[in-house]
Amino acid sequence: MEESQKKWWHKSVVYQIYPRSFYDSNGNGIGDIQGIVQKLDYIKWLGVDVIWLSPVYESPNVDNGYDISDYYSILSEFGTMEDMNKLLLESNKRGIKIIMDLVVNHTSDQHLWFIEARKSKDNPYRDYYIWRDPVNGKEPNELTSNFGGSAWEFDETTNQYYLHFYSKEQPDLNWENEKMRNSIWDIMNFWIDKGIGGFRMDVIDLIGKDPDKQIKENGPKLHEYLQEMNQKTFGNKDLLTVGETWGATTENGKLYSDPKNKELSMIFQFEHMQLDKIPGKQRWDLKKLELDELKQVLSKWQYALDKDGWNSLFWNNHDLPRIVSRWGNDCDYRVESAKMLATLLHGMKGTPYIYQGEEIGMTNAGFDSIEDYIDIETRNIYKERIAIGVKEKEIMKALYMKARDNARTPMHWSNSQNAGFTTGLPWMKLNPNYHSINVESALINPDSVFYHYQKLVELRKQNDTLVYGSYRLLNSDPNIYVYERILENKKLLIVCNFYEQEATFSYSVESQATVNILISNYNDSGKDLSNITLQPYEAIMYEITPKEGPEQ
Ligand code: NOJ
Repeated sequence: MEESQKKWWHKSVVYQIYPRSFYDSNGNGIGDIQGIVQKLDYIKWLGVDVIWLSPVYESPNVDNGYDISDYYSILSEFGTMEDMNKLLLESNKRGIKIIMDLVVNHTSDQHLWFIEARKSKDNPYRDYYIWRDPVNGKEPNELTSNFGGSAWEFDETTNQYYLHFYSKEQPDLNWENEKMRNSIWDIMNFWIDKGIGGFRMDVIDLIGKDPDKQIKENGPKLHEYLQEMNQKTFGNKDLLTVGETWGATTENGKLYSDPKNKELSMIFQFEHMQLDKIPGKQRWDLKKLELDELKQVLSKWQYALDKDGWNSLFWNNHDLPRIVSRWGNDCDYRVESAKMLATLLHGMKGTPYIYQGEEIGMTNAGFDSIEDYIDIETRNIYKERIAIGVKEKEIMKALYMKARDNARTPMHWSNSQNAGFTTGLPWMKLNPNYHSINVESALINPDSVFYHYQKLVELRKQNDTLVYGSYRLLNSDPNIYVYERILENKKLLIVCNFYEQEATFSYSVESQATVNILISNYNDSGKDLSNITLQPYEAIMYEITPKEGPEQ
């Protein structure tokens, strides 16, 4: 990549904080902004230089902050605007930027715009949302909400339906309305002026929706709106912008992230995260992950965005189950498989994201009663599936594997009461395995998952091949994932055994080249590339440097 095109975020690693479950500084059982300030040195020690903060704005919390009622103020449970300013100051002091979550496909129904809009058909805010007359006394069409049921809610005051792709308390904004768009630019500029490092844009591929044609994702004006946003807000600033796009393809992935197109820095694409569900069905319809499919999908994205775009790299976030429970082995090989998955991902080209707790190998919540799940999506899906006759055991199994609450249990800081998360009553049940899996014990163990992540983050800062090298998938034993990264005459070779069974592989190296192990999850990993036997979940990153000096 030409020097002039390089960006600071090409070398960054982002840490996602879900504030409610991160650290409670005042004993009310809920994580808060002061709690984050108190843990900044921990985050700095991990080595990351960006925090993505899940929403901290005013919200009735129907969807844990993804239903915003005021974009200009902070939810009192989390603190105040002064706390937010302090967080910005203290993180910037440590060289850490804060990326705010921008949730603008919808607002809360308690947002002033919606309170006004629903009052009458001629209210000035009416057109900030999407309203339709009933058709034959029913919903205008078959559009469904991502949280179950119809996407239309009848509003008695004006006898019209409004659109909501999530809960009925999250009405969708009408992006066709220029005045509404200007209000969004104002919000974004307010936060940019505060000195944030960028935005993570919630379900941004929905803003171009065309409800009459029943188009949800990738609507006709999506890229037009993003270009307008870029121009009106962050276009001339050096910020990181990442769009959440469940419906992205590699073709539109380029549109979003090709700098020439002036839209976003990168997107979260979810193709790889949907490989363990039955195609065309919901994620609750489980299917075993096939490693070959994972290789094909990740490689497709690596190749497609190699030149004209940029990838984000992630296994986890607050909507996904814990990766070590999902595709690793959270029983006998928790540490090895967590490190393997980290190596596999962090070896690729793109900006890696770490979700709180991933760096200590936290596992799924393991709740076996529906009462322990708090998430609105989970509760709705449970009711919906019971109503259509799915067996309870089957539903609970799917939740055990996939529910969003798996990632939302409070962070494990120590072995003391409530994992050191709060001195009060935690807002959500903890995972009882905090006695053995916690930050305190990770920090005193040089072989912990934490130090493996720390090293991966550090390698990215030092090693240009890891940042800019092109990716190439290699043929291998079906149980292992092997790829190269190539920059000029330097190569990295990343070899990961995805399973518990041993596997072998071999690779030919030019004579006299030097082979170094940059990172591995075993102390005795093989160095002779002509014949390697990989132990369970073994992952090794080799650096291969040709002999220096003139060619003979
Ligand atoms: C995606 C967010 O990540 C998720 O948590 C939320 O429920 C939906 N968007 C709706 O905002």
